[in-house]
Amino acid sequence: MLNGKHIILGITGSIAAYKAAMLCRLLVKEGAEVRVIMTPLAKQFITPLTMATLSKHPILVEFFNPENGEWNSHVSLGEWADMLLIAPATANTIAKMTTGIADNLLLTTYLSARSKVAVAPAMDLDMYAHITTQQNLQTLAQRGVAIIEPAAGELASGLIGKGRMAEPEDIVEQVKAIFAEAEHRTLAGKRYIVTAGATIEPIDPVRYITNHSTGKMGYAIAEELARRGAEVKLISGRTTLPAPKGVERIDVLTAEDMYNAAVKEWNKADGAVMCAAVADYTPAVVADHKLKKSDSDMRIELKRTKDIAAALGANKGSRIFVGFALETDNEEANAEGKLQRKNFDFVVLNSLRDKGAGFAGDTNKVTLIDHTGSQEHPLMSKREVAAIIVDKIETLNS
Ligand code: PMT
Repeated sequence: MLNGKHIILGITGSIAAYKAAMLCRLLVKEGAEVRVIMTPLAKQFITPLTMATLSKHPILVEFFNPENGEWNSHVSLGEWADMLLIAPATANTIAKMTTGIADNLLLTTYLSARSKVAVAPAMDLDMYAHITTQQNLQTLAQRGVAIIEPAAGELASGLIGKGRMAEPEDIVEQVKAIFAEAEHRTLAGKRYIVTAGATIEPIDPVRYITNHSTGKMGYAIAEELARRGAEVKLISGRTTLPAPKGVERIDVLTAEDMYNAAVKEWNKADGAVMCAAVADYTPAVVADHKLKKSDSDMRIELKRTKDIAAALGANKGSRIFVGFALETDNEEANAEGKLQRKNFDFVVLNSLRDKGAGFAGDTNKVTLIDHTGSQEHPLMSKREVAAIIVDKIETLNS
C-alpha cells in the first residue's frame, strides 16, 4: 500500500524520538521511500547515523551544509513528498505550525508542502491537555492536518496519562488509512447541498408543529459526500447532532427558512440530496403571545409551505438531484410520483412499515428508484445507506 510513496519523516525534540527509528523501518518495509528531517534538538534524542542507516539517505537538519554550501531546498522537499509525517511532534513544533513560524528546515518544509500532513503528538499529559495545545491541534485539524492521537500510559516524567506518542505500528496503519482516503476523493471539486432534519413551524412563542426526524440520515450523507472530497453545505433543521467533519452547516428553523437557504445555495451547487422532513403545512398566523386555553376546542388554520425539492427540480439542468420518499402505503407508486413531479434523478424510498427504517434509529431499509427501475436493499446502518447513495451519485457523475 505504501509502495513507492514519498514520505518525509519529521523528528522533533522529544524522548519519543527513539520510536522514530522503528517507525522509519516499518515505513521502508512497507515500500515507502523515506527522507528524514530532524530539528536541531531532535539530534540530542536520536542520532542522525541511526536514522540515516534506517532510511538509507542522509539526514537533513540545516538549511545548508556549512562544509560545502550545499542547499537543502525545503521547496523541493515539499514538492517531492506525498506525505509529511511529523512523529514525534512536540507542543513547540505544533504551536509553530499553527502560527507559521519557520525557524528550522522541518517548519519551512511544512509551509512548502503540498502533500498530506500528519502529526503524532508526544508530550507530558498536562502539556497535551493544555488549552493552548488543544486549540493548536484543533486549528491544524481544521486546516486538513491529520492528527494521530497519542495514547494514554506511563510518560517519561513518570506521570500516567495521555501524551505518549502512538506506537509505530499504529502510526503506519493510520498513514495507510490517510492515503486510502485521499485516493478515494472521487468527488473533489464538486459542491453538494444536503437538507436534513425536521423543520419547526411555530404556532405561538411556546408551541410548534414538527416531526420525528433527528437528522441522522441526512448527516450521514453529508459526511460521506465530504469524505469523498465534495464541498458540502448541510442545510439543517433542528437536531442535536454535531456538524460532520469538513461540512459547512447552515442552521434553519422553518420550511420557509430552509427554502430560502436551499434556493440561495442551489445556484452554486453541482447537486443536492433532499433528506429533510419538511413540514407541508404551517400555521397561517403565528400568534405573537402565548395562546390561552379556554373550555372550547381550538382550530389552527394551516397553509401550504413551499415545496423546496420541486423548486430546485424545476431548475435542475444537468445537475444531480436526489430525493427521499417517506411512505406508509403504496410505497413504490408514491415514490415514483415524487421522482417525476420533483424531477429527481433518483429517489430513496424508506417505508415506516419496515422495522428499523425511517426516523431516529441508526439503521434504514431503502429502495433506490430511478427512471429505469428500482433496486431494493436490505436493512443496514445509515452510514452504509449513505455510502450506496453516494456510490450512485458517483456513477451519475462519471
Ligand atoms: O432524520 P432521521 O431521523 O435519520 O430520519 C430520516 C428520514 C426518515 C427523515 C429520511 O430518511 C427521509 O425519508 N426524509 C424525507 C422525509 C420526507 O419528508 O419525505 P416526503 O416523502 O414527504 O418528501 C419527498 C421529498 O421532497 C423529500 O426529499 C423531501 O425532503 C422533499 N420535500 C418535501 C416537502 C417540502 N416542502 N419540501 C421538500 O423539499
